[in-house]
Order: sequence, then structure tokens, then C-alpha cells
Amino acid sequence: MKILAFAASLRRGSLNRKLIALAAEVARTAGAEVDLAEFREFELPIYDGDLDASAGLPPGAQELKRRLDQAAAVLLAAPEYNYSVAGPLKNAIDWVSRARPMPWRGKSIYLLSASPSPMGGIRGLWQTRIPLEGCGALVFPDMFALPHANEAFDGAGRLRDAAVAARLEREVVGFVRLAEAVAPACSAHAP
Ligand code: FNR
Repeated sequence: MKILAFAASLRRGSLNRKLIALAAEVARTAGAEVDLAEFREFELPIYDGDLDASAGLPPGAQELKRRLDQAAAVLLAAPEYNYSVAGPLKNAIDWVSRARPMPWRGKSIYLLSASPSPMGGIRGLWQTRIPLEGCGALVFPDMFALPHANEAFDGAGRLRDAAVAARLEREVVGFVRLAEAVAPACSAHAP
């Protein structure tokens, strides 16, 4: 099964990028083919209905659509901004939602977040579910929030806490198995 994985942060030192790299590694070990994308590749203007009406999807949105179309599932590490979805991710979801058939529809999605805060970005993940589910995605009930993420990784990008690393592995493998199970039904159901 093919999985698109990306961290919805543009920041060079992104903690979410470190987390998605580990999640992608686990998914590969579980047998998935993982397309680990760099969010900056999907560089997008702010959604503008006039631009949409005159020119359609900009190249960055077309590329994200193309990569989504190739995948049955998505691993998405999403930063929490002000208790909610970070603007760049919401913008990307909105642009891609304009394509038909809707690229998010039927995709199994596992959400992760890394934050220096004690909450680990979990509040933002609850908000991130809403537009994705509105677009027809199957967002996995469990989500992975990494608190104190600024102290969580060693110099090699590994999680310092073995129990946290084991939880990540358990969760991602569980997601891969569930996504594999539902993928045939989802592709049959796609419009
Ligand atoms: C944040 N940050 C943040 N963290 C959090 O846990 N809850 C929050 O509500 C917010 N709000 C917030 C707003 C804005 C505008 C910024 C720039 C940041 C901190 C955020 O989690 C932190 O910068 C992460 O490191 C961002 O993810 P990346 O870029 O490291 O992947």
C-alpha cells in the first residue's frame, strides 16, 4: 500500500518534520511504500476564488493532488497554531478540495503533532480532523501528539524516550494495518 507522508510546516527546523520522518520509517518497516514529501514542494498562494475561477489549481495544489491520487493513505504531522489548524495546512486542504474527484475522499489519514507545549498539539489535531473529514477522508480515531518536542529528539533525530518511540511504532503499525484493510473498499467507493 502506498502512503503519502508529510509535515505541514515550512520551517527548516520543524519538529513535525522530525516526527514524520520517524513515522514514515515505521510505516516502511510495516511494509508500506512511503512517499515522504516536503510541504514546501506544495507552495501555494492564499486561496482566492478569482484565481481559482480564472486559472484553476495552482501548480503546488496540482502536485499535492497528484501525490494524493497515488496514495491510499496519508501520514500527516500538523503543527498546532493558536489551538487550531496552522494556516498553511488549511490553505492546502482548501485548494485541493476544489479538485474533482475530491483527492481527500476515501483516504485513510493518521494525524500526528509535535509541539514544545505540554499538550503536544492535540487541540490542533482535533480541529484538523474537521476539514479533512468534511472532504471525505477517513481520519483514524487515534492521534499521536508529542509534547515537549523541543527536548524529545536526540542529535540523530531519534526519540529519546523508548516508551514514546514504542507507542509511535504501535500506533503507526496499527494504522497501516487498518488502512490496508479498508483500502479496497475505499477505492471501490470512490466517485
Ligand atoms: C505556535 N505554537 C503553538 N503550540 C501549541 O502547542 N499550541 C498553540 O496554540 C500554538 N500556537 C502557535 C501559534 C503560532 C502562530 C506559532 C508560530 C506557533 C508553537 C508551535 O507548536 C511550535 O512552533 C512548533 O514547533 C511548530 O511546529 P514545527 O514548525 O516545529 O513543525
